[in-house]
Amino acid sequence: MSPENYSIEVFNPLEASDEVIKHFFDIIEEWNIEEDPDEPLIPRESYKKFLLDPHPHSQNYRWLVYPKEETNKIVGYGNLIVNLEGHPNYEENKHIGFFSIYVTRNLRRKGLGSKILRVIISKAKELNRLSTFHCGTSIESGYEFLSYYKGTISIESAENRLYISEVKWELMKTWKKAGLEKAKEKGITMEDFFECPEEIIGEYMHIYTETMKQQPLGELEWKPKHTPESRRLDEKRLADKGLEWYTMITKENDKAISGLTEYFYYEDTPHRIEQGLTGVKEEYRGRGLGKWLKAEMLFRIKERFPDVKFISTGNSTENAPMLSINERMGFKEFRPSKLYKLKLEELDKLVLSKKKN
Ligand SMILES: CC(C)(COP(=O)(O)OP(=O)(O)OC[C@H]1O[C@@H](n2cnc3c(N)ncnc32)[C@H](O)[C@@H]1OP(=O)(O)O)[C@@H](O)C(=O)NCCC(=O)NCCS
Repeated sequence: MSPENYSIEVFNPLEASDEVIKHFFDIIEEWNIEEDPDEPLIPRESYKKFLLDPHPHSQNYRWLVYPKEETNKIVGYGNLIVNLEGHPNYEENKHIGFFSIYVTRNLRRKGLGSKILRVIISKAKELNRLSTFHCGTSIESGYEFLSYYKGTISIESAENRLYISEVKWELMKTWKKAGLEKAKEKGITMEDFFECPEEIIGEYMHIYTETMKQQPLGELEWKPKHTPESRRLDEKRLADKGLEWYTMITKENDKAISGLTEYFYYEDTPHRIEQGLTGVKEEYRGRGLGKWLKAEMLFRIKERFPDVKFISTGNSTENAPMLSINERMGFKEFRPSKLYKLKLEELDKLVLSKKKN
C-alpha cells in the first residue's frame, strides 16, 4: 500500500450528496467507536442538524480519503477549524487553527496521516494568517503521531464521569445544607435560567469569560472570550437543535453574580448530561458556593432526568480545586486526553522532509 493510491477529497456537507454524507458518518462513527466503544452513537439525523448548520463565526474545512480504485470505501478523514471575523475572540485567536486526522486502523503507519496533514498545512498556508495549530486526542497512536511531528503538549485533561448510582448523596445533602445556611446568613440567592435574562447578560458574560480564563489552560494559545451577542447566538443555535442548556447562578446580597454552573441535556443522548463551566468569582471563594452549586445541580438532574446514567465533564489534570470538588462528589477519570501545539512553519518543514524519505 502506498499513500499515492489514495485520494483526498474536499468534503463540504452543504454541497455533498447523501452518499458522500454517509461516508462522512461512516468514518466519524468508526472514530467514535474506537474512542469509546460503549457509548451509543448519536443518531445520524440528529448529527446532521449540526452538520448542515455551520456556525457563522467559524469555518470547518473537511476532507475525506478514499482508495483511488474504490471510491465507495472511506478510509480517512481530516479537518481544520478556524475562527472567522465576527467571532468575539477573532483578533486574539486568528493565528490558531484546530485540526484533527483519522486513519482507519488497518491502514495506519503507511503515510496516510501525513498525507492528510499536508493537505491541512496547504489550506492553512493559503489562509495566510495561521502560525499555530492545536490538536487534541485521547488515542495512543495520535499521541505518537503528534509527538513525531514535534507537537508539544499544551494541556493534559480528562473526561471525568459521575455515575448517578455512585453519587455520594449524603455528602451532597451536607453541601446543600451548608450552602443554604450561608445563603441565609449573607443574603445569597440561587437562580437558574435557559436564556440568560437581559438585565444580567452583560455581567454574566463578563464573569463567564473571566472564569474560562482562570481555568488552568496550560500552554494553550487560545484565548476565550464570550459576549452577550455570542451567548444569544449559541442559545438559539442549541435550542433549535433540541439541546437544553441549563445555567445556575448565585447572587450576593447586593445582586452581584458570585458563582455559576451549567449543564447540557440532549434528547438524543438521554443517558448522559454534559457538565460545562463552573466558577466562583475570586472574592467570593472559600465559602462553599462551588459545592452548593454542584450539589444543587445534582439534585435537579436527578429529579428532571430520571434516565440519566452519568454526568460527564472535561477537566484539566491541573485544575486542583475543581478536581477536589468533583472527586468528593464521586467523579472518576474516564478517559485522559492531550492537547498538542504545533507551529506551522516547523511542521511544514517536517512534513516535507517526511515526504522525501
Ligand atoms: C494519528 C493517525 C491519524 C496517524 O495516521 P498514520 O497514517 O498512521 O500516520 P503516518 O503513517 O503518516 O505516521 C507518521 C509518523 O508518525 C509516527 N507514528 C504514527 N503512529 C504511530 C504509532 N502508533 N506508534 C509510533 N509512532 C507512530 C511514526 O513515526 C510515523 O512515521 P513512520 O511510520 O515512518 O515511523 C492515526 O494513528 C489515527 O487515526 N489515530 C486515531 C485518531 C487520532 O488520535 N488523531 C489525532 C491526531 S491528529
